Amino acid sequence: MVTAEVAEPVPAQTQEERFEAVIAAEQRIEPRDWMPDAYRATLIRQIAQHAHSEIIGMQPEGNWLTRAPSLRRKAILLAKAQDEAGHGLYLYAAAETLGVDRAELTEKLISGRQKYSSIFNYPTLTYADVGVIGWLVDGAAICNQVPLCRCSYGPYARAMVRICKEESFHQRQGYELLMTLMRGTEAQRRMVQDAVDRWWWPSLMMFGPSDGDSPNTARSMAWRIKRHTNDELRRRFVDMTVPQAQHLGVTLPDPELRWNEERGGWDFGEPDWSELTRVIHGQGPCNAQRIERRRAAHEDGAWVREAASAYAAKRRAEAGTRTADEAQHTPEQENGK
Ligand SMILES: [Fe+2]
Ligand SMILES: [Fe+2]
Repeated sequence: MVTAEVAEPVPAQTQEERFEAVIAAEQRIEPRDWMPDAYRATLIRQIAQHAHSEIIGMQPEGNWLTRAPSLRRKAILLAKAQDEAGHGLYLYAAAETLGVDRAELTEKLISGRQKYSSIFNYPTLTYADVGVIGWLVDGAAICNQVPLCRCSYGPYARAMVRICKEESFHQRQGYELLMTLMRGTEAQRRMVQDAVDRWWWPSLMMFGPSDGDSPNTARSMAWRIKRHTNDELRRRFVDMTVPQAQHLGVTLPDPELRWNEERGGWDFGEPDWSELTRVIHGQGPCNAQRIERRRAAHEDGAWVREAASAYAAKRRAEAGTRTADEAQHTPEQENGK
């Protein structure tokens, strides 16, 4: 008898051809599917870097948790920081489907062998920074991440669907906070403008170097991990954000920003790429502090991991004993209970 499991052998199709066909058909590669080593390595690097960014990204705003101006603002900020922790955990789980262990990834992060988004190496000086991070940093994250919902690797694409919904909520809460400040006093409006001035260029750099300096983009696009180039995503972000800045009543700190009638989009100046290079290489204002904090949190949490492992081992041992007991009983005896 022929069962569903005994599929017709696919004629003359190598694993690599099958992989390429799945990608070309806009279907998903799943953890048990064959994939080229370089595809796996690229995904591990990208997902780990993304997970690290979510976790490290809690720190700049976490700085304000104990000093939120009202209970309502504290509750909103706390919920946002918890969302980011959740994003990090989904993403570590997605990375683990590729055969790495999250303990190993954390080790690489705190020893500086894996990176996280350079944006989180800037300090948060006032509460307006919380609003600007929500508006610009989560806004840039959305531009980057919405196309990842169609990424060719199934577990990553699925994790991004929920994450993007939450990021869009973060962006709105940031914008609402800024609108409130802009309706306040002159000093509050100055505080918002100052935060915008400090965060605008680092936000543009979140999309990575310009296309000419991004050698891996073409391959990631061919594998349908990435759907748009860095410059395309950056333009999309600027086009989305300029009208929001106008509505808010703030000035974006770029003298070259002007509407391009022909293109139907905004032209803008070139970020200072040497700054991005410096921050990526550990010389941003808060790099050392962020990693030190992450290392301390990891060490402080060792007892939780040990307790959870001991509990899991105990449960396994108990389950083993139960299975042995159950083997002594027939199902009829169980049903008679
Ligand atoms: Fe997030
Ligand atoms: Fe977020």
